[in-house]
Amino acid sequence: MPDPSVVQRGLEDVVALESRICFIDGKQGRLIYQGYDIRDLAARSNFEEVAYLLWYGRLPNAMQLSDLRRRFGELRTLPPAFVERVRSMPAEATPMDILRTSVSALALFEPEEGKPGASSIGGAQRLTAALPTILGEFHRRRAGLPPLRDRPELSQAAYLLYALTDREPTELEARAIDVALILHADHELNASTFAARVTASTLSDLYSAVTSAVGTLKGPLHGGANERVMELLDEIGTPDRAEAIVKERLARHERIMGFGHRVYKVEDPRATILRDWSRRIGEAKHDLHYFEILGHVEEVVHREKGLYPNVDLYSGSIYSLLGIPHDLFTPIFAASRVAGWTAHVLEEYQDLRLIRPTAKYVGAVDLVYVPVAERP
Ligand code: COA
Repeated sequence: MPDPSVVQRGLEDVVALESRICFIDGKQGRLIYQGYDIRDLAARSNFEEVAYLLWYGRLPNAMQLSDLRRRFGELRTLPPAFVERVRSMPAEATPMDILRTSVSALALFEPEEGKPGASSIGGAQRLTAALPTILGEFHRRRAGLPPLRDRPELSQAAYLLYALTDREPTELEARAIDVALILHADHELNASTFAARVTASTLSDLYSAVTSAVGTLKGPLHGGANERVMELLDEIGTPDRAEAIVKERLARHERIMGFGHRVYKVEDPRATILRDWSRRIGEAKHDLHYFEILGHVEEVVHREKGLYPNVDLYSGSIYSLLGIPHDLFTPIFAASRVAGWTAHVLEEYQDLRLIRPTAKYVGAVDLVYVPVAERP
């Protein structure tokens, strides 16, 4: 039994459950999905294959992969009455709020898909296919872009980019998004995945679990960090101003977004891969200014605080150069992590144990109740 007087704040280092889905070696800087190193997956795989891997525990064969691609193509089309609801949500709302409410609302239209148990794989595929459509429907209306069309021939990555920008992505652009989707697809018991598992552990449905997860991802200490990185880059403006501005923020004890990690004590391997993609997209767009500023920021933060970059440092620079507005960065994270959330929910249903930790009580006891009329 753990000592009840010792509080592991933030559940740091607490091993809460067994999982086969994802392994992080924080000392070696390794990330593994179902046995496969993230560097191999980012170099050679694609998001569809990775989603299959997370859900089923093995890579698909050619037939299984083409089936999943076809299914994603079909499942992106959402019930017209639901799409109407998305379109009527306030245009000034944040896309993460739209996503959270939409996942919850979609559950009303397909109660069977989310039912706890192995059949929730249907809901897992539906939500993974649907998130880009929800974002596209919302964003296109507020941005005055033409209506979203079904594009079953596009990969999830290319469709996401098309849905958000109305442009035909080049091969390089689609591949950059594909790699970003692969890298964000899972990360063991991060806060949003834990939230999803807590919800699933009560035998609640998959859509409720994903709704909890979206709400958790929204916070700036989790998924919201890459958006904040871009605010910093815009404030810095040119590489020569990086040193002074970063030092100033550190002197005010501010956190520099995109650095530090609860688990990685060395560089996050996803940051290494995204740094390379930030340069590649910068070169393709003849605009390396984000890449150059980030190099300076990295140097200063490492020198001053000994901190390494995490996944959020470089992703925003890639999305920005692809013409994606900042407030859609965290939703893109969600459009990828939904594969991991749902894989964890399915795993939770298979090995169910209500997640319910305890607290060390530090409040008062034995206070004497005074009726309201007699209180000072
Ligand atoms: N900028 C400046 N200082 C940072 C920092 C950052 N990004 N991340 C951690 N630190 C400092 C803390 O201030 C603390 O210093 P102190 O001991 O002098 O108070 C020390 O490093 C340890 O930080 P702590 O908050 O205990 O680590 P954690 O494991 O709880 O934090 C994060 C993990 C991710 C919440 C944290 O690194 C952070 O806030 N990063 C920025 C947000 C971000 O990029 N999130 C995306 C994560 S993928």
